[in-house]
Amino acid sequence: MPRPHRPGGSATFEAPPNIALVKYWGVRDAERVLPYNSSLSVTLGRFRSRTRVRFDPTLDEDRVVLNGAPATGGPRAAVVRMLDRVRAAAGYALRAEVTSENNFPTASGLASSASGFAALAGAASAAAGLRLSPRELSRLARHGSGSAARSIYGGFVLWRAGRRPDGRDSYARPLFGEDHWPALADLVVLVANAPVKTVRSAEAMQATVRTSPEYPQRLARLPERIRRIVRALADRDAARLFPLIMEECDDFRRVCETTRPPLDYLTATSRAVLAEVRSLNRAAGRPVAAYTHDAGAHVHVFVLARDLPAVRRRLRALPGVTALRVVRPGPGARRLDAGAPTGRRRRPERPRATGRAGRSRPAAARGRPPR
Ligand code: DP6
Repeated sequence: MPRPHRPGGSATFEAPPNIALVKYWGVRDAERVLPYNSSLSVTLGRFRSRTRVRFDPTLDEDRVVLNGAPATGGPRAAVVRMLDRVRAAAGYALRAEVTSENNFPTASGLASSASGFAALAGAASAAAGLRLSPRELSRLARHGSGSAARSIYGGFVLWRAGRRPDGRDSYARPLFGEDHWPALADLVVLVANAPVKTVRSAEAMQATVRTSPEYPQRLARLPERIRRIVRALADRDAARLFPLIMEECDDFRRVCETTRPPLDYLTATSRAVLAEVRSLNRAAGRPVAAYTHDAGAHVHVFVLARDLPAVRRRLRALPGVTALRVVRPGPGARRLDAGAPTGRRRRPERPRATGRAGRSRPAAARGRPPR
């Protein structure tokens, strides 16, 4: 076994979860986490995973502590795989201590794998002395959890599926910054007795690819849906955006329900929330709100500031709704201990604050990018 040749570095990163408006669901290459379709998400402010990685010459194996408890089994193995990838890229042999905490309940069904792996990718690579651009970080985070590729950036984020077999063109980029649309809020509706996910989405989605007869049609519909969503976001047009968000969510749910055996992530309360949003929109004669959910029972309801109080009152009254959280689009992943001996701050890749989606300026690539 190679012996350590330099003292261990350490770094702390925090990263946000995100909610997909267009879902990542299905991979063409599971090993490299290369999706069939591009996906689009909103980075959630207020929720955060904070992760510290410290490489330590005295450790014989990696130590992983998640939310105060030592990690075992699958969750530990996934962290170690990410550390191995970083070690291989950095030519580093040291074992590490990883501590990670969420400022939201892990079992709540809010995507902690996206925030957790985005924070881990940042902290591990910085601690190992790699100086990765946001784009390289997005590629690296993708290997821990696909949706983590998007949590590197704030605001509204597009993960382009890419075409290359080696995955170098499969990474996220920012479309619009977190300040693009101040009136837009995500009302996170937490429901009672949300089942804890037992099968990782990475596995569940492949069951859909294999068995849902609806999956090919879904893939065919997505490029146009994404274009329309990007245009509605650019114009800050809720009347166009909200129906598209719900159409996509319904489409996602349909491929889950037609998977064999069926995938059902919702509870009766989640379904009541969807029905209430439909009925609110019908009564108002306009799209007042838009629901979406990922592979979990909680529901995200997008609403404009002027309609927020009324929508909130209606949803709070539903039996089984335990809490409502108002979340705005927030900033992306960042290093908390910049100036520490390893890693250097890099100029962040900036989204265009307003207007139509444009190409983001790539930050110059330095260091050895992980594959
Ligand atoms: C439905 O990338 O979170 O949220 O880490 O294996 O659970 P696992 O997969 P992950 O899958 C995300 C699925 C989704 C849609 C999305 O976020 O795009």
